[in-house]
Amino acid sequence: MQSHDWPRTLAQWLKEARSVVVLTGAGMSAESGIATFRDSQNGLWSQFKSEKLATADAYRQDKALVWGWYVWRMAMVHAAQPNAGHLALAALASLKSDLSIVTQNVDDLHERAGSPDVVHLHGGLFTPRCFACSRPHKGFEPPDDARENPQLRLMPPRCGHCDGYIRPGVVWFGETLPETAWKEARRRVRECDLLLVIGTSGIVYPAASLPMMAKAQGARVVEINPVTTELSTEVDASWRATAAEALPRVLSFLSDDRPTP
Ligand code: OAD
Repeated sequence: MQSHDWPRTLAQWLKEARSVVVLTGAGMSAESGIATFRDSQNGLWSQFKSEKLATADAYRQDKALVWGWYVWRMAMVHAAQPNAGHLALAALASLKSDLSIVTQNVDDLHERAGSPDVVHLHGGLFTPRCFACSRPHKGFEPPDDARENPQLRLMPPRCGHCDGYIRPGVVWFGETLPETAWKEARRRVRECDLLLVIGTSGIVYPAASLPMMAKAQGARVVEINPVTTELSTEVDASWRATAAEALPRVLSFLSDDRPTP
């Protein structure tokens, strides 16, 4: 199929679907200026060592380094805006009542775009909690100048209940996914008949198992990504485009009354 057919075809598949899940990864927020993890030029894991920043051991060893790095990321997300892809997904949800988003992203750009139903598989930058007692910690705001400084060192605040140190609310390497989110993601994927996979390299498990789970129970699976990924040969269709290019084009066909072939 020629690439110019994808917006129309996907709009048709969306119309036919009873239940839709959209699985998003870092590429979804790339056009908002948030770095992905594995892009060879400016991906976070090509500039920073994940084992020094994204494990519980790293946090135990150097709290100021780890907390400072996440505060830098919080400040960048604070300053970013949802892109045309986020906005188109929120508009799609208003046209299709049974459309949910399952995201690996720790930003809040889907919510700020107006998407009503977002499951966060890897936690969130803005839900820090106590490293000792796990209680949520409210009210932390990154300093204004934090976004200029990826090398920021900052000691985390202390827990108001047990005086333990506060940790970022994200899932680190070696940790399990939040149980409720993972259960909910699997339930939705099992029930969907169309899964859109947008902006993920598809190499981090268990999130990367969701497309195969959807296929195994008969759903159509469509990837939107500017490059080939681990998932490309497994899905029903791979559309080589960015999220902010592709999704508004699909939306324009869906909002359009013209019959699709
Ligand atoms: P990756 O950085 O691994 O992959 C990002 C994907 O987005 C790549 O396949 C890019 O080609 C694609 N991409 C880049 N720009 C895009 C755009 N404008 N539109 C659409 N796609 C685009 O990020 P994830 O797959 O999300 O985990 O990574 C998975 C997990 O690994 C993350 O959640 C994070 C990381 O370690 C944790 O933090 C627990």
